[in-house]
Amino acid sequence: MEQCLLNKQIILGVTGGIAAYKSADLVRRLRDAGAVVRVVMTENAKQFITPLTMQAVSGNPVHDDLFDLQAEAAMGHIELGKWADVILIAPASADCMARLLRGEANDLLTTLCLVTSAPIALAPAMNQGMWKNTATQENAQALRAKGIHIFGPGEGSQACGDTGYGRMLEPVELVDAVAALFQTGSLSGKRVIITAGPTHEAIDPVRFITNASSGKMGYAIAEAAIAAGAHVTLISGPVSIATPSHVIKMAVTTAQDMFDAVMSRIAECDIFFSVAAVGDYRCRTVATQKIAKTAASVTLELERNPDIVAGVGALVKRPFIVGFAAETENVLVNARKKLMNKKLDMIVANEVAVGMGGDDNAVTVLWGEQQVEFAKMAKQKLARKLIELVGDAIA
Ligand code: C5P
Repeated sequence: MEQCLLNKQIILGVTGGIAAYKSADLVRRLRDAGAVVRVVMTENAKQFITPLTMQAVSGNPVHDDLFDLQAEAAMGHIELGKWADVILIAPASADCMARLLRGEANDLLTTLCLVTSAPIALAPAMNQGMWKNTATQENAQALRAKGIHIFGPGEGSQACGDTGYGRMLEPVELVDAVAALFQTGSLSGKRVIITAGPTHEAIDPVRFITNASSGKMGYAIAEAAIAAGAHVTLISGPVSIATPSHVIKMAVTTAQDMFDAVMSRIAECDIFFSVAAVGDYRCRTVATQKIAKTAASVTLELERNPDIVAGVGALVKRPFIVGFAAETENVLVNARKKLMNKKLDMIVANEVAVGMGGDDNAVTVLWGEQQVEFAKMAKQKLARKLIELVGDAIA
């Protein structure tokens, strides 16, 4: 279950309550589960635990002021609210719950809760009498009705000496509860192969033919598949981006290398994402020495490379196959032809000018008689949506 948190971007809101001393451990455990955590503290929270502690355990600057010029310049509150995959407030005080319910925006944390479209979860922590109070109970009920998740509180002895409901859930329980929010559309246990990046086709020992693919889309899909519980093999051409954790990476150079790597693993594969921009042609002969610039012109004779995804499509025992089509014109018509000709189960089509090499992409996904459009968004976010779609399609 913890795998669900891999690379999830979590805002941990900390409000004023003695349970805030446990928030540092919570950050550590969220990070151990692979999440990226940014801490937002209210003024009262700082009475119980220092921003320095939270900064040290989260590895990110602590956000605490709506009107801090420097913080706004680095990551403004709107950007921060959009950055979050989930906002977890732990501990959540009775006051914080009341302010959230009223939609107040009088500090950074409540403002972020208004900005975000991500799920919000609260781990209430307060004296048992405060929790039992009808005002707090009614607030909790109304927050739930608005779709805000409320984790706990637990029962037991309290810092003030009372016993009853009001203890913040333990960090390990909260990690599980947050992970459960991301469990839908899971590829749990599925074996996924992804090709990504460009290929290099040698001309001579120092020159090669390649293309503008950055590998970002394929790597984002690898991350999203891991987070959805899949076992991922990433067969990648030469790129300059970091390999996501928990991925088995096979580095290849040419289209033929990539073809061989895919075919060596494809028997143990449930879902194949062909994201790589594979070179369609290679030099018929590769010069063994660097070609000198003596001639006025040079002619390179090119021959076809194998079509990897079509090769997978032709197999008798085949995985669910997702192809990609980066087109400069007639995007949907061309994509539909590729869906049929290469015997794909699904194709993700985009315009070259929108997606290739950049951080964002806008795509249309076609499968069977169905079609879904995703407006321009970060490749990481798009990857999660594609994984969700594939999860539904194979269910
Ligand atoms: O034909 P085109 O290159 O536009 O098709 C795109 C799809 O085919 C992508 O999924 C790409 O990864 C795959 N492809 C391949 N081997 C090739 C060429 C393309 O797997 N040689």
